Amino acid sequence: MALTGAPPLPGELELTRFPEDPRERLRAWDASDEYLLRHLEGLSGSSGSSGLPAPSGRTVVFGDRWGALTTSLLAAGAAVTQISDSFLTQQATLLNVSRNGMTDPDLELLSTVDDFSGRPASLLVRVPKSLALLEDRLRRLRPFLGTGTRIVGTGMVTEIHTSTLQAFERILGPTRTSLAVRKARLIFCEIDPALAPAPSPWPLAYRLPEDAGLVAGRTVVNHAGTFSADHLDIGTRFFLQHLPRRSDAAHIVDLGCGNGVVGLAAALGSPEASVTFVDESYQAVASARATFEATFAAGTRDAAFRVGDGLAGFERESVDLVLNNPPFHAHQATTDAVAWRMFTGSRAALRPGGELWVVGNRHLGYHAKLKRLFGNCDVVAGNPKFVVLRARRRSRL
Ligand SMILES: C[S@@+](CC[C@H](N)C(=O)[O-])C[C@H]1O[C@@H](n2cnc3c(N)ncnc32)[C@H](O)[C@@H]1O
Repeated sequence: MALTGAPPLPGELELTRFPEDPRERLRAWDASDEYLLRHLEGLSGSSGSSGLPAPSGRTVVFGDRWGALTTSLLAAGAAVTQISDSFLTQQATLLNVSRNGMTDPDLELLSTVDDFSGRPASLLVRVPKSLALLEDRLRRLRPFLGTGTRIVGTGMVTEIHTSTLQAFERILGPTRTSLAVRKARLIFCEIDPALAPAPSPWPLAYRLPEDAGLVAGRTVVNHAGTFSADHLDIGTRFFLQHLPRRSDAAHIVDLGCGNGVVGLAAALGSPEASVTFVDESYQAVASARATFEATFAAGTRDAAFRVGDGLAGFERESVDLVLNNPPFHAHQATTDAVAWRMFTGSRAALRPGGELWVVGNRHLGYHAKLKRLFGNCDVVAGNPKFVVLRARRRSRL
């Protein structure tokens, strides 16, 4: 595929988050995306040719949030492999690519659980929130990178720590940073062929503590980047101590399952139920599967594992019980939009009489939201920090 020029800046493209939410006015890119694209544009100006890789080389983009980098590079004619842990990123990317009029872009979408092969000409890294996810990915990509690979990272100043730079340095080779521009920074790195970094330590497994309700003493498995990957989150622990035991529940969903501890507890508490684990993170769903299989050998218990946006795509009135510890941010931005989507999705997916159980920080005000949506909401348990709430789907919608 021939390159046609410098990549357009995000402001020159039509970019939105996924799913689009008219209530939210959050942009689908930030100054760090822009800085990286300006840098590539500058290379293109100074060399008289595009700063993008040679036509035969692919650009690997890791950590793109809403597809701004990928869309811009594709618009410049580059061949792009995007590697992402996020279903929402992948959907946003597809939407943004088509919204900007590209009908047949050279785009390969890989998730973090897919195998990678090839020899990328460039590796562009939008620094992810999770250092573990970054380290794990750099370790896995390193065998495919050579001394000629252009490696550039980008992130907001607040996201690039000494540990971030050390990860590049330890795993890939010599690393330096740019000056900050509009609170964003670039990271330049070169492969040191003599370095032999240790293989990725992930996934990590640990034993759940004795006060973790039905899952006490069970093994939980975490792939890099999964929520609360090396210890039990205190909100989750509180939830585990107060989960319902519903012997009549045929279908239970662990919504936003992370490493799957909540769904595992539900499976143990309701031996006849089928449990579905859902998360928008590929690493999370892989973790939930591994956690589940550490207790129930594969095929011995009915369970499903789905990567997706909340309960989108679930059949209406097909679920008896939804268990949910909602996220309160989406790709770094604090928002209650995801929780709201999870609650509305639950109302549609629950059968009449079915229940949504939620744990959350008291100050997040989920109680009012659930009451508005379901017409009822009980506080099942509370401590100074957390509440466990229950809302019942009363009638047909
Ligand atoms: C607070 S964590 C809870 C994880 C796990 N249930 C626990 O209690 O340890 C929230 C989870 O929701 C997931 N998540 C965020 N947005 C989502 C979405 N739109 N659809 C499904 N899962 C989502 C995150 O990846 C994360 O694993």
